[in-house]
Amino acid sequence: MDKYYSIPNNLAAYAEQHTTGPSALLNRLERETYLKEINPRMLAGHYQGRLLTMISQMIRPKAVLEVGTFTGYSALCLAEGLQEGGVLHTIEVNEELEKRAKTYFERANKSHQIQMHIGDACEIIPTLDEVFDLVFLDADKQSYKRYYELVFDKVRNGGFIITDNVLWNGKVLEEVQDKETAAIHAFNQLLQADERIENILLPVRDGIMIARKKLNS
Ligand SMILES: C[S@@+](CC[C@H](N)C(=O)[O-])C[C@H]1O[C@@H](n2cnc3c(N)ncnc32)[C@H](O)[C@@H]1O
Repeated sequence: MDKYYSIPNNLAAYAEQHTTGPSALLNRLERETYLKEINPRMLAGHYQGRLLTMISQMIRPKAVLEVGTFTGYSALCLAEGLQEGGVLHTIEVNEELEKRAKTYFERANKSHQIQMHIGDACEIIPTLDEVFDLVFLDADKQSYKRYYELVFDKVRNGGFIITDNVLWNGKVLEEVQDKETAAIHAFNQLLQADERIENILLPVRDGIMIARKKLNS
């Protein structure tokens, strides 16, 4: 599969070869996504999926929020680390994606823990009455700043906000930037200047920003 990596492809392949593989169910979901969706590359996939699972298992969250469900791959990866009785809310604007995602949540025996919301995340986030340990932002890039502002007060002190695609195919380095690239660059700068958090930009796949809300923020 053709993917963007910020490291040479052979090293990326080596890293994948030395990373635990996904479950048969996740493989099936990935295959189905590539067969049936117009833009299947939006799916997190094996390597990033395992990273999200590992992070979630390290945090053992009670409540997770994902913005941008797509076919449900990353939601399933993040749900692997949930505490017993924990919940993952995932928001998707495209209602046509609901049925398949929910089918896979059931097949994974996670439907009691994953609540899928259909609609614009900017409208749904304010309605969620939850304190999140972990948030994963992976929807419309031009709305990243808005998502961040909307979720911030819903994240517990010491909690994490992870954002995908913050290197945007390397385009954040270009001098003349299209709207999406400019929005992502502005988002990265916003977080870098935000004294309420500690942050690290990982050059993994398309760039993953991890922000931790300081304990005294
Ligand atoms: C990159 S895909 C998510 C991929 C998914 N997290 C994964 O790794 O498998 C982005 C998704 O965000 C959805 N999206 C875009 N704008 C949105 C919005 N305002 N609210 C909710 N979802 C949105 C898109 O329809 C798309 O399915």
